[in-house]
Order: sequence, then C-alpha cells, then structure tokens
Amino acid sequence: MDLTDRPRRLRRDGVRELVRETELRASDLIAPVFVDATTDERVPIDTMPGHERVPVDDAVDRVEEVLETGVEAVILFGIPESKDARGTRAWAEDGVIQEATRRITAETDAYVITDLCLCEYTDHGHCGVLEDDAAENPRLTVDNDETLDLLDRIAVSQAEAGADMIAPSGMMDGMVGAIREGLDAAAFEDMPIMSYAAKYESSFYGPFRDAADGAPAFGDRRHYQMDPANGEEALREVSLDVEQGADVLMVKPALPYLDIVGNVDREFDRPVAAYNVSGEYAMLHAAAEQGWLELEATALESLISIKRAGADLIITYFAEDVAERL
Ligand code: PBG
Repeated sequence: MDLTDRPRRLRRDGVRELVRETELRASDLIAPVFVDATTDERVPIDTMPGHERVPVDDAVDRVEEVLETGVEAVILFGIPESKDARGTRAWAEDGVIQEATRRITAETDAYVITDLCLCEYTDHGHCGVLEDDAAENPRLTVDNDETLDLLDRIAVSQAEAGADMIAPSGMMDGMVGAIREGLDAAAFEDMPIMSYAAKYESSFYGPFRDAADGAPAFGDRRHYQMDPANGEEALREVSLDVEQGADVLMVKPALPYLDIVGNVDREFDRPVAAYNVSGEYAMLHAAAEQGWLELEATALESLISIKRAGADLIITYFAEDVAERL
C-alpha cells in the first residue's frame, strides 16, 4: 500500500475550517420582500411558509426585520392595487414599489434592489405589452420593442423613488440597453443594473406566481424566457447583457442551473448573482414538513453549493433564516 495523498488528513475538526474553499456570509444574501397595495394586513403566502405579502405601511417594519438577521439587501416585488393591459401602475409615481422604495430608503439602511417587470402589473400577466390579439392567437406573443419603451420608464420611476439597484427580469431582447439609456438620460448614470441575464422558463417559479399574483392569464412564457435545455445560449444571452451595460449578471433558477452559474462565472468578469427561486424553497419546506429532510441543513448546503458553483450573491427566501445562523 502506497498512499501518499490522503485527503482525509485535512477533514478533521480544527483543520476543516482552515482549508475550507467556500464561505457563505450574511452579506452575500438578498432577501425578497413582497409589498401588496391591495391589503392593509400582512397576508401569509401559503406556498412559501414563513413569507408574507405586507401592506405599504408595513414595508419599513418588514425590512427592519430582515436587517436584524444580518442581511443587508432586499429585492422588492410589488402587487399593485389595479392592473391593466399595459401595466401602467408599474411606473406610477405613487405606485406600490415607488412608495415602498421611498419609505424604505428614507427610514432604513437597507440596500434596496427593485425587480423590474410588467407581469405583476398587466391584467394578462405577461412580462410586456401584447401584440394585437395575442390572447386569441397563441402564435402571437409579447411585443418586444414596444415593451422596451415601458421598461425604461419603470426604471426611471424606480430610480426617482430612491432605488439603489434596478433588476430587470422580463427577458426582452435589448432590455438592459434600453434601461441603461433611459437611466443615463435621466442623470442616473451611477445606478447599477443587475440583469436577470439567463432566466429560464422554469416550473420552479410556481409558488412565486402565487405570491406575487403574476401568473400569465393564458399561454406561457416560453416565447421570451429561455429553454431549460439550452446552456450555450445562456452565454450568448449574458454577453448581450454585458455589451449593453449590465453590472451584475443573474442566473435563475439556481440549483437546477449550477452549470450555467459556473460557466457565467468563468466566462465573464462581472459579479454573478443566482436566484434560489420559490420552488427551490418550497421543495425543502415540503420535505421538511414530512420529516424527510432537515430544513436548516439542506438550506445551508443549497446556498453553499450555489456559491461554490460561482455565484457572488444569492437571492433567496432562506436569507433571514440562514443569516441568523452564520
Ligand atoms: C417576474 C418574476 C418571476 C420571478 C421573479 N420575477 C416570475 C416569472 O418569471 O414567472 C420568480 C421568482 C421565484 O420563483 O422565486 N418576471
């Protein structure tokens, strides 16, 4: 027996930490917060145990709760008081996100990222304006270029409300460029953009659509979100966003797409974010409820894996629970 290399030597207590390659910190995590203009009470989200939609009046308190755990950043999602075909409440000065952002940035130290998409604001639930008659004709889809004009309006309204970073998630071609131009023209040159650069048409978003009331009323999002079968295409998507000025590159979902996270990290010299989505959260909760998995341990292992794969920051519904234990 000639065993010169024995990796077990470095697995003992005391040395394990010294040689650990990946570390998860509370400051890597971003907590999603749902602000709901249709309620004046907190509403638990059934599909995502421990999460709630909070009224605008509770937005500051909700973010204070996040900060107490050690998490320093939040990403805001809004449920507007009314919806229409163009999603006009998405850029209203008194819109739910604008109002919440104004209050949170005035009253807390949180770093506030605003999700920028139309699906929570349109009555048809798609991430942009529809081509004529799309509801009747399934071959028609979201009108890309017409949607771009709206996205830059939303970005400027969120910036004016005080957002620290804008995160467009609609997967329109040219969205980062359109938003960058809009922000620069309104003198927000310093506003960073975190692009949902490689966002897949994923079944793991199910619980979120319940939470944010953003399910498409007809059809699906496969005309604009990526095909889960495609990995090379993700690099092309990401490079387009880099050319257009994305500051942070996001891959979404996280766990089923760690190969993409790794490739984006290796190929691009920008910070990489991964979105550990609602289905990834709900899955562990459901198994834990049955007594089949240990919630805390599996959550922590999931987040470490996402970092190990190459993510610098992680958006996760586990942020608060995990941060308290780090
Ligand atoms: C909006 C948006 C979605 C998610 C984040 N932003 C839903 C979707 O694209 O259908 C999903 C987040 C999650 O599942 O946690 N475009």
